[in-house]
Order: sequence, then structure tokens, then C-alpha cells
Amino acid sequence: MDHPPRVAVIGAGAAGLAALKALSEVGAEAVGYESGDRPGGLWDRDNSSGRSAAYASLHLNTSKGRTEFADLPMPGEWPDYPSAELVAGYLADYARFFDLDRYVRYDTSVVAVEREEPGGQAPGEAVWAVTTDEGDTERFDAVVVANGHNWDPRWPDPGYPGTFTGEQVHAHEYRVAEVFRDRRVLVVGTGNSAMDIAVDASYVSRGPVLLSARHGVHIVPKYLFGRPSDATGGALAALPWRLRQWIAQTMLGLAVGGPERYGLPAPSGGLFQNHPTISDTVHHRLTHGEVVVRPGIERLDGDRVHFTDGGSDRVDTIVWATGYRVSIPFLSERWLGPDPEAMPLYKRVFHLDDPSLLFVGLMQSTGAAFPVVEAQAKLAAAYLSGAYALPSPERQRAAVGRAHRAAVRRWGPDKRPMMRVDFDRYVADLPRETAAGARRAANPTAGTGSRRDKENAV
Ligand SMILES: Cc1cc2nc3c(=O)[nH]c(=O)nc-3n(C[C@H](O)[C@H](O)[C@H](O)COP(=O)(O)OP(=O)(O)OC[C@H]3O[C@@H](n4cnc5c(N)ncnc54)[C@H](O)[C@@H]3O)c2cc1C
Ligand SMILES: NC(=O)c1ccc[n+]([C@@H]2O[C@H](COP(=O)([O-])OP(=O)(O)OC[C@H]3O[C@@H](n4cnc5c(N)ncnc54)[C@H](OP(=O)(O)O)[C@@H]3O)[C@@H](O)[C@H]2O)c1
Repeated sequence: MDHPPRVAVIGAGAAGLAALKALSEVGAEAVGYESGDRPGGLWDRDNSSGRSAAYASLHLNTSKGRTEFADLPMPGEWPDYPSAELVAGYLADYARFFDLDRYVRYDTSVVAVEREEPGGQAPGEAVWAVTTDEGDTERFDAVVVANGHNWDPRWPDPGYPGTFTGEQVHAHEYRVAEVFRDRRVLVVGTGNSAMDIAVDASYVSRGPVLLSARHGVHIVPKYLFGRPSDATGGALAALPWRLRQWIAQTMLGLAVGGPERYGLPAPSGGLFQNHPTISDTVHHRLTHGEVVVRPGIERLDGDRVHFTDGGSDRVDTIVWATGYRVSIPFLSERWLGPDPEAMPLYKRVFHLDDPSLLFVGLMQSTGAAFPVVEAQAKLAAAYLSGAYALPSPERQRAAVGRAHRAAVRRWGPDKRPMMRVDFDRYVADLPRETAAGARRAANPTAGTGSRRDKENAV
């Protein structure tokens, strides 16, 4: 390429901002597109994108020290688990501090991304056409997809049999507990949204909040033995995950006991084999009888919900805290495959068919998201600047296959194994990968497919 790479970045949440910063540092010509009117993505509930899932009581559930970007620590005087409002302010500060707003076209949604030139393994070989909702199309050497994956509500599919005559909302719509005042509330799910919403609702609802758990989960409090619980995870990072699991689960058992003690079903897998559910407050509401556990739903019948144990309750509002679908509507199935959750990516960044289509943030981390997207952004920028060369396509595919098999063994086949990353391992691995790619770039005879390879070859 005889010019700095021209790169489209879609989304200006934590992932898109980290990508824009890394790209600006390698001299790329970056253009950011953001549907909303501000940076910060889902953390700012007033974001005009309408995609934020942030409710008034939302706080980080990963601790400040484990969540902050390495390039911009969170203020020392902040609590260990800051509010969503503080996090949104932090991301706005990050954009300001690194002067990223100048790259971003706010209030502009990308509606289509199509490749016009065939592409290859080196940057500059593809031409990508990016079309916005305003009808403009611009061309780029590469596209970084950073559109987030926690904004498209996943309703039960297929829905439960029967008809419900009360109100139904998805967790994504929830903002303040007042909407539950004097209502009989059923919250479905055992993820972090379910726990937070059940707790909030339990202070204003009519009678205890019902929590429908079709599976058990380990619930980790925010503090264990006087420290943020994920700090303990960090201290154990060098150990194999099975050993980490045994140590952490033993500590959790000693400190709080198993979920069955609180009326929840027993988890089917061990700690770290599911997305962590982190809550200090749900144990308190459960032990006070203000949140009461129900099993999975069997059917709906007017204002009644029937459960799999044969019991039933009258309910005014069902909150489906059933998670989010991965949606990338501007990319065709040609790139996404039949299921975007199962799309293979080398190091969760590079599309296997054309590495000038890159992803930042399309992963499910065992810990915080920001250090992961920061490391991904740096790897992407190193590749696009020519400082990093990928291994051969065959090696990329083999590495993805190995990672996938390991993830299936750990998380099982149904829990997005392709997207899983072990936070500490992954954040430590990407700088090593960048260094290995720099060696490949410096040694064209290794046949790596780097830009320098191609230049030397002609
Ligand atoms: C309720 C909730 C709480 C969470 N708590 C934590 C936590 O405690 N710790 C943690 O580490 N992680 C947490 N997460 C995970 C969270 O996803 C990450 O922290 C982080 O927000 C991911 O950033 P992102 O940029 O990938 O996505 P987002 O923040 O969703 O940003 C994506 C951006 O892309 C924009 N966009 C999407 N499509 C388009 C398009 N077509 N054109 C233009 N722009 C587009 C969106 O408007 C949005 O601004 C939480 C998630 C949720 C839902
Ligand atoms: N900072 C915070 O405090 C905070 C708060 C909220 C969310 N978050 C984050 O936001 C992301 C999304 O979390 P989330 O809790 O909204 O979603 P989630 O983690 O995907 O959890 C969804 C829950 O819904 C259940 N479920 C899914 N489909 C169901 C169905 N058809 N019937 C019954 N139950 C069903 C799942 O149970 P099964 O296991 O049985 O499928 C699971 O318990 C996560 O990364 C989470 O950490 C963080």
C-alpha cells in the first residue's frame, strides 16, 4: 500500500474507541461511524442510539482495577465498582483525552458493508464499501466491526406455550424500579441482568419477586475476603483453569456456600464454566424472602405462569432477562455464516476469509471487557500498519480449531464456545502474538503473507 490504510470503525463504544485510538497511533486514516450522539456505547443510558441497556442502579460488576484501560487508569478515588454513570463519563473522557471525537461521525448508522475487490492476506488488497443510513457510500482498505453485542434483546425462541395477559418487558428496556411498584413481578433468567432487576424490583413490588431459574449458576459476591473477587482471579491467572476453578470454588464455598443454600438450583458446571453472575445483593434479598426462586416456566395461562414443578403464580409483569443476540445487520451471511455467534475469527479479531475485515469486542470474556478490546485494538492496528504479519491461513484455521475445541471442553457446545476468551490468558497472549507477528513480518522467507512479504516477493 502506498498510502496509510484507510479504515472504517463501526461503533464508538469502548471497543470502537480503543480501535480508533490504536489506529490513530499507527498513522492510519480512520473514520468512525456511530449511530448515537455520543461516545461510550451502552454505558450511557441517554445515548440516542437507543441501544443502551444501562439502568439507574447499574454498576460495574468487574472491579475498577481489572476493568480500566491500561492507557487511562480510572481515578484512584473512585469506588471499586463505579456506577454506569461514572463509566460513561470515563469513556467520554477517554475519547476527549485521546482526541478521538474528531474521527467519529455521530448520528450515523452503517447499513451495509460490502467487499468490492477480492482481498487477500495483506492489508490494502481489498476495497470495502461502507454505506450509511444517509445513503453515502465510502471506500476503505479495511473495516473494524465494533458494534457491540448486548443490544438486540433475545426473547425466548420459541416462546413458551400459552398466552399471557399481563405486561412483558425485556431487561433491555428496564431503567428504574418504580415501574414495578405494587406489581407482582416475575424475572426470568439467572444472569447479571436478572439478579440486578430482581433485587431492584423487590423493594417496590407487590409481594416477593419471583425469579425463574431453569438452570443453576454460581453467584460470586463483589468482595471476597475483603478484596474485589476478580482480583483473586487475577492473582491465580498463571495456573491452569481447572486448578484456578478448584481454588476459587473452594473459597466461594467457604465464604458464601453453594447456590442451593439460597434456594437456587445446583449449577451443572463448575465456576468459570459459565458466564459469571456477580451480585452482593441477591443473597440478601433471597435470605430475606423478598426474592423467591421458581424453576423454569412450563406455560403461560392468562395472568398465571405455570412452572416445571407443577406450581403456578399470578403475575402482573414478566421481565425476560434472557440476554442478547449477536447482531451484525450490515454484514451479509457471506461473512457471518449461518450464526454470527459461531463465526470463526483468528484471535477473535481477524476474519478467516479476509483479514481486512476485523472485529473488536466480539467475544465473551470471563472478566472485564475493556482490557480485552484494548489488546484487540492494538493487534488490529499492528496488522493494518504492516508491523504484524498473520500466520498462514492454514495455521490460522488450525489455531481457531484448537481454541474452539478447548472452549467446547470447558464451556460446552451450546454456550457460544467460539466467542469465549479466558480474560487473563487472552490479555497476556495478544502482546505475545503481536511480537510473534512482528517476527513474521521481519522474516518474509517464512511465507507469512504479510504486506512486506508481498512487497519483497515482487
Ligand atoms: C447491562 C450490562 C452491564 C455490563 N457490565 C459490564 C461490566 O461490569 N464490566 C465489563 O467489563 N463489561 C460489562 N458489560 C459488557 C459490555 O458489553 C462492555 O463493557 C462494553 O460496553 C462493550 O463495548 P462495545 O464497544 O463492544 O459495545 P457497546 O458499548 O454496545 O458499543 C457499541 C456501539 O456501536 C454502535 N453501533 C452499533 N451498530 C452500529 C451501526 N450499524 N452503525 C453505527 N454505530 C453502531 C452502538 O450505537 C454503540 O454505541 C455489560 C453489558 C451490559 C449489557
Ligand atoms: N455490570 C453488571 O452488573 C451487569 C448487569 C447486567 C448485565 N451485565 C452483563 O451484560 C451481559 C448480558 O447479561 P444478561 O444477564 O442480560 O444475559 P445473559 O448473561 O445471557 O443471561 C441470560 C439468562 O437468561 C436465561 N435464559 C435465556 N433464554 C431463556 C429462556 N428461553 N427461558 C428461560 N431462561 C432463559 C439464561 O439461562 P440458561 O443458562 O438456562 O440459558 C441466563 O440465565 C453479560 O455480559 C453480563 O455480565 C452486567
